[in-house]
Amino acid sequence: MTDILTVALPKGRVLRAVAPLLARAGVNSDLLSDDRSLVREDRTLGLRFLLVKPDDVATYVEYGAADLGVCGRDVLMERSYDVYQPLDLGVGKCRMVVAGVAGKPAPVDLPRVATKYARSAAEHFARRGLQAEVIHLHGSVELAPVTGLADLIVDLVETGETLAQNGLEERELVARISSILVANRASYKLRQERVRPLVERLRAACIP
Ligand code: PRP
Repeated sequence: MTDILTVALPKGRVLRAVAPLLARAGVNSDLLSDDRSLVREDRTLGLRFLLVKPDDVATYVEYGAADLGVCGRDVLMERSYDVYQPLDLGVGKCRMVVAGVAGKPAPVDLPRVATKYARSAAEHFARRGLQAEVIHLHGSVELAPVTGLADLIVDLVETGETLAQNGLEERELVARISSILVANRASYKLRQERVRPLVERLRAACIP
């Protein structure tokens, strides 16, 4: 098959959440293992998969290096990507929350907030009419309140295990997060006959 569709998938935790859904949509599950190969092809379905960092999926799709992608809503909230979002896949569910040291209230006046999600955090505090100093980190954000780098964090919580293990507690919900199917705008219009059936297969594979 020559008319191959390229789909960007996030490596790691999100891939593990999305793989069963893709398998239900007919993708050969051998192609969905979380190993080190970065390009995989399902010749039967005419699909090529690119395995990329979760934060990079929407960039591949926006620039047309991939026709479709699977992307966390947290990534889409953090930057305005020019992509379609035809389907919420309803997997990879977690929440973005404000958390702090258990039993220790944060200062009301200009708390320091450590996060990977600087824009989402700033918007959350602005919506509440509060000023906060947002400190951008790349990961292991839970360490920031423990070490005194920050009063609060904004981060993703799935089981709550990481917060609990670091003596932190959830304070406020910022947003509910799940994995979203994103589509390149040109592909969605010009390759409709290839893109739409795949979107519909994935829609049918979503468990309500
Ligand atoms: C994510 C998130 C939390 C953790 C939450 O981190 O940033 O740290 O998972 O999961 P839990 O509620 O089930 O414990 P990830 O493992 O992606 O690594 P990171 O700290 O480098 O962001």
